[in-house]
Amino acid sequence: MSRNILVTSALPYANGSIHIGHLVEYIQTDIWVRFQKMRGHSCNYVCADDTHGTAIMLRAEKEGITPQQLIDKTHGEHLRDFVGFNIAFDNYYSTNSDENRTLSQGIYRKLREKNLIEIRTIEQLYDPEKELFLADRFIKGECPKCHAQDQYGDACEVCGSTYAPTELIKPYSAVSGATPVKKTTEQYFFKLGECADFLKQWTRAGHLQNEAANKMAEWLDSGLQSWDISRNAPYFGFEIPDAPGKYFYVWLDAPIGYMASFQNLCAKNKLDFDAYWKEGASTELYHFIGKDILSFHALFWPAVLSYSGYRTPTKIFAHGFLTVGGQKMSKSRGTFITAESYLQQGLNPEWLRYYFAAKLNSTMEDIDLNLDDFVARVNSDLVGKYVNIASRAAGFISKRFDGKLADHIEPSSLITQVADAAPQIAELFEAREYAKALREIMTLTNLVNQYVDEKKPWELAKKPEAAAELHQVCSVSLNLFRLLSIYLKPVLPQVVGQVEAFLAIPPLTWDDARTLLLGHTIQPYQHLMTRVEGKQIDALLAANKETLEAAKSSGHSPVRHAEAQVHHAATVDRSKMADDSSFISIDDFSKVDLRIAKIVNAEHVEGAEKLLRLTLDIGEEKTRTVFAGIKSAYDPSTLVGRLTVMVANLAPRKMKFGLSEGMVLAASGESAGLYILSPDSGAQPGMRVK
Ligand code: MSP
Ligand code: ZN
Repeated sequence: MSRNILVTSALPYANGSIHIGHLVEYIQTDIWVRFQKMRGHSCNYVCADDTHGTAIMLRAEKEGITPQQLIDKTHGEHLRDFVGFNIAFDNYYSTNSDENRTLSQGIYRKLREKNLIEIRTIEQLYDPEKELFLADRFIKGECPKCHAQDQYGDACEVCGSTYAPTELIKPYSAVSGATPVKKTTEQYFFKLGECADFLKQWTRAGHLQNEAANKMAEWLDSGLQSWDISRNAPYFGFEIPDAPGKYFYVWLDAPIGYMASFQNLCAKNKLDFDAYWKEGASTELYHFIGKDILSFHALFWPAVLSYSGYRTPTKIFAHGFLTVGGQKMSKSRGTFITAESYLQQGLNPEWLRYYFAAKLNSTMEDIDLNLDDFVARVNSDLVGKYVNIASRAAGFISKRFDGKLADHIEPSSLITQVADAAPQIAELFEAREYAKALREIMTLTNLVNQYVDEKKPWELAKKPEAAAELHQVCSVSLNLFRLLSIYLKPVLPQVVGQVEAFLAIPPLTWDDARTLLLGHTIQPYQHLMTRVEGKQIDALLAANKETLEAAKSSGHSPVRHAEAQVHHAATVDRSKMADDSSFISIDDFSKVDLRIAKIVNAEHVEGAEKLLRLTLDIGEEKTRTVFAGIKSAYDPSTLVGRLTVMVANLAPRKMKFGLSEGMVLAASGESAGLYILSPDSGAQPGMRVK
């Protein structure tokens, strides 16, 4: 029976590039969707860019463009990357669309009619310089529990405790560096607590993986708070009806973006929107997501849908996070690999699709990309085993039999075994047990190779009297290869597309496993896939390696320094940048040219609140001028004559007050003042610090 299925992947933020971590999800979803389509089901796969929020507004501002320009640019880049990895969305839209505005406002109105919206006056932190209410991620300060410095406003990365941003000690705005002030503000809340009974039932009704249901039970047991769905202007998003100056929080309209993208597709393809979204709809709805956004999808989203008169998801499929070599993706190690760089380096997207599939299962366990294993597995399974079958049989069919496969082939247990595996492999794909499916397929592939090894077509070809047998063996081999291609097609659509061209057949469907290709003329064989070279991996890592300099200019400085805190309005890319490791390699470190410097002059800078102008002697002919944010701690006259440590190869920076030609190292504790470093006595200006 044919099913009607709607599938989504999480909507990537429009302020960042697609990286291989994201690709785990889009590849996982795409494989499932392609599988459903091959089975003959109606399956629509929609996605969109998640475009709203403060991060995008600030990012656009920093780049000197409008948010709309930023999201247009990103939309093109994201789509290019997805197409590059053969991810075939039926629609890739944007949350900043008319459909989404109308749907979001409509849903809000329905919730309000149900008396599920309340207005509360709360205290929030406000950046008085930037005139902006600060989201948790944009406030940093000292952890109230363990006193670690520079922790985000929602959670401490050192001790793991969570807290309200107002609890931070010595908070500062990550946008401007200013000290935030508390300001009362009216906000709109969704009364999630009133949905608790519904959610307790829903989360246990088979819509979630068990581990996910257990996680949600913890939340439900600890009591559901009302959810703040509003943000104050300035904000890039949709206005809340009848609430001037208030915007929907990005996480309110983001999942509604799934509906909006589908609605946009309905208009193009004459599909029935209500059949997929109306309460009681009999179609199937699946959301593929990462485990980090589970609560949004397993609590907020079903509650919002259910209480506004829509259907809820059939299932939420959460996956784990990608690690590379067992560690978080890291810019300094070059393992924060962007989709774009992978393609630009000329690596085959199907290698990664295969590798991820070989690792994926239906759980929320993290998956690891081990680069040595990647090379070995792709070369051995895909090139050495799968492609090898075709390359060993095809030439003889072309050269000896006019490109025509035999009219009959003898029934054999091998053909039966490979063909009969179809239902079982289908079950594994359906259950998202891709690793198991590929193991099955590779077991069969090994058997097929054994068959070719035993029959030795290259020897048969030498004996004129064995022509009929050669025809049989090659026809059987290519039929087995065709069956394996059916099973691999959800994972390797591009390669199997080439196989279809080579076999001169229409697109393979799952049911084709019931038939054989006989008396059929095929095309000359062309190589289907090359091996991965180790040096391609080296180049890929090098291309993604962020040097210390680049790290600094993008605001993710691994080195803390007083000056940066004063002048570098650190940009905080939302959430995923925390993926980056705080380790740097010795190579990275040795790029920093640290020198002993003598402060030959120090003076106030007119109009600068925090700066002193230092003149430094580092044993070179010319002295250096450095602006250091240490005015609060030092009377300039006490500095003259002192030795300190400077970064001598920092790219000169033009500042409002002049050119700064380096940086002085200082220790800073947010509450405990500033201390410039000094060497022990005997050190001379110009000495290298190693
Ligand atoms: N914009 C939100 C989703 C809104 S859905 C209504 C978001 N965007 S994201 O760009 O940060 O992430 C998009 C998807 O990629 C999420 O499902 C996330 O879990 C997944 N991944 C991002 N980094 C990942 C890894 N390193 N590993 C695996 N998946 C990862 O969240
Ligand atoms: Zn802490």
